[in-house]
Amino acid sequence: MELKGSISPQLGNLSIILVELDLSDNNFYGQIPEDLARLRNLKLFNLSYNDFHDKQVPTWIGNLSSLVQLNLQNNSLTGFIPLSLFNLSSLEILDCNFNFI
Ligand SMILES: *[C@@H]1O[C@H](CO)[C@@H](O)[C@H](O)[C@H]1NC(C)=O
Ligand SMILES: *[C@@H]1O[C@H](CO)[C@@H](O)[C@H](O)[C@H]1NC(C)=O
Ligand SMILES: *[C@@H]1O[C@H](CO)[C@@H](O)[C@H](O)[C@H]1NC(C)=O
Ligand SMILES: *[C@@H]1O[C@H](CO)[C@@H](O)[C@H](O)[C@H]1NC(C)=O
Ligand SMILES: *[C@@H]1O[C@H](CO)[C@@H](O)[C@H](O)[C@H]1NC(C)=O
Repeated sequence: MELKGSISPQLGNLSIILVELDLSDNNFYGQIPEDLARLRNLKLFNLSYNDFHDKQVPTWIGNLSSLVQLNLQNNSLTGFIPLSLFNLSSLEILDCNFNFI
């Protein structure tokens, strides 16, 4: 949709309701807001094809305990896969292709 800018932290207020969040294929950049850690029923989180260059995979993603599919591909993310991701016991798909991890 060619949306751009930073992701609104207020999305975190959809804490119980939101089950799928697909922001893929836009031009979002900047920090992925920690408020999204409150999306505790989120099963699908797709941030692929944005531009989070110089940013790391946020540790708090490990708090999204309902996650089944996490797609971070093609974002120029750097750093490490945080250990917290090992807490995601329902995770079936993790796609980190095309980053600098
Ligand atoms: C979202 O929640 C925060 C507290 O986490 C609150 O300060 C803010 O006003 C809320 N925003 C909306 C649009 O409800
Ligand atoms: C994420 O988005 C990409 C690009 O829109 C799409 O190709 C892919 O299938 C999606 N992956 C998931 C798990 O939804
Ligand atoms: C993530 O969960 C831990 C406890 O498991 C908590 O201490 C931390 O504040 C949470 N982080 C966020 C951003 O909610
Ligand atoms: C990643 O996305 C950019 C544009 O968003 C594109 O130019 C590039 O070819 C993509 N890279 C891969 C490996 O898909
Ligand atoms: C995994 O979750 C447990 C329980 O909430 C927490 O104590 C621990 O710090 C988490 N581990 C990581 C690596 O985040």
